[in-house]
Amino acid sequence: MSERTVTSPALHDEELKKQEDAIKTIRAINDEYTLKTGKKKKYYILTMGCQMNAHDSEKLSFMLSEMGYEHTDVEQEANFVLYNTCCIRENAEEKVYGRLGYLKHYKEINKDIKIAICGCMMQQDTVIQRIRKTFKNVDIVFGTYNIYKLPELMLTNMETGDTIFDIWQEQGEIMEDFHSIRKIPFKASVNIMYGCNNFCSYCIVPYVRGRERSRKPEDILNEIRGLAKEGVKEIMLLGQNVNSYGKNLEKPVTFAELLRMINEIDGIERIRFMTSHPKDLSDELIYAMRDCDKVCNYLHLPVQSGSTAVLTAMNRRYTKEKYLELVEKIKKEIPDILLSTDIIVGFPGETEEDFLETLDVVDKVGYSTAFTFIYSKRTGTPAAVMENQIPDDVTKERFNRLLEHVNSGVEKISETMVGTVENVLVEEINRQDETMLTGRTERNSLVHFKGNPDLIGQIVPVKIKENKIFYLIGERML
Ligand code: 5AD
Ligand code: SF4
Repeated sequence: MSERTVTSPALHDEELKKQEDAIKTIRAINDEYTLKTGKKKKYYILTMGCQMNAHDSEKLSFMLSEMGYEHTDVEQEANFVLYNTCCIRENAEEKVYGRLGYLKHYKEINKDIKIAICGCMMQQDTVIQRIRKTFKNVDIVFGTYNIYKLPELMLTNMETGDTIFDIWQEQGEIMEDFHSIRKIPFKASVNIMYGCNNFCSYCIVPYVRGRERSRKPEDILNEIRGLAKEGVKEIMLLGQNVNSYGKNLEKPVTFAELLRMINEIDGIERIRFMTSHPKDLSDELIYAMRDCDKVCNYLHLPVQSGSTAVLTAMNRRYTKEKYLELVEKIKKEIPDILLSTDIIVGFPGETEEDFLETLDVVDKVGYSTAFTFIYSKRTGTPAAVMENQIPDDVTKERFNRLLEHVNSGVEKISETMVGTVENVLVEEINRQDETMLTGRTERNSLVHFKGNPDLIGQIVPVKIKENKIFYLIGERML
């Protein structure tokens, strides 16, 4: 059985060349298969978790298509099945085990399919042990630091028949020049940094994605210029904590400076980014957001809890008051901004009073969207061994109350949009009603309106007619 391999940072180009060669070899094998059978081999990819993972999957999809595989949404007809996993909450992990169990039987009947798993879950020793023991049907296992190696790992597996485990314990050099396949051709994600140094006490991410590493501004700008040439209009800059972008570069650059540079790129019309940690959100960034016409007036600013005591236990390093002050400052500079957030309910030690502080923040800020989570114990994090874990029934009851507050806030925000004209980037034909189109406003609200599919990919003015709380109904302005 093949085991962990380590790449030296000096070998960047050599490593990429290895992948190119593996891609060519596999492509030749797949072309021959197509000649013989008249069919193309297919891949299925399941992506769990955050936008970072979704973007990794876009890169993996590109590699698979270069190797001659065709995408399918039907797992049962795939020759190559890939699960890109998430471990931020326990239920995501359980889902993966359940699906792997099902695949076991499936592979007994279809011996030729290959199964690969990657992503954050694979960076945990306990997971690898369980896979080795229980899921011998898996062919390739790799982690978060070496996704670029998929072609090489696939080739080694084809040549040896061995199960390949290639999990690195730490990051290597950032690999550049990666292409991706996007579901929406005119919207693209761009990694600006990897990893996280914050160690919030509940969070597993720093353990599975490593320390912060920023890409060089010139690499980011070149990638975005290339995307603009391909017709991309909207970009989403990705990082676990974009506000600390550039601190570890040889020539430090701030995130605000980066935004100003990206704002100059012709062809790009909208710039979004996530995620911002409140403790690092500088005035300089607020001014850059205010000044840059392409940077959307929308900000994802996770609060996690409204109680200073809980925030301290979470190691968030801001207080309720500081968060609210920050929100005020942002709203003062950018009056029409909309904010979204992440909130965790049931963190160890959370009292009813603490929870009421969270509801108070929700009511005071008025989020246009809030991602609400029930606290999930992650082994290896400081919070997992804290006393006073909250019983499920208490958490569930608080969670429901939180949703009521969130929804009532969202409804109020949506109501303010009725009667206004919003610029909507049209994304697709509405899935429920073919006569309607679906798109997003600059401030990220979902809008459905009647229109011709020719408009897909364009930014068009739409008058908002109806508030459906989580989406809006509009009418195109001619
Ligand atoms: N339990 C519940 N939610 C979590 N998050 C991160 N770790 C946990 C956990 N252990 C949430 C946070 C974060 C979002 C991406 O996921 O709210 O902002
Ligand atoms: Fe996790 Fe906190 Fe880092 Fe976000 S900032 S990834 S919540 S440790």
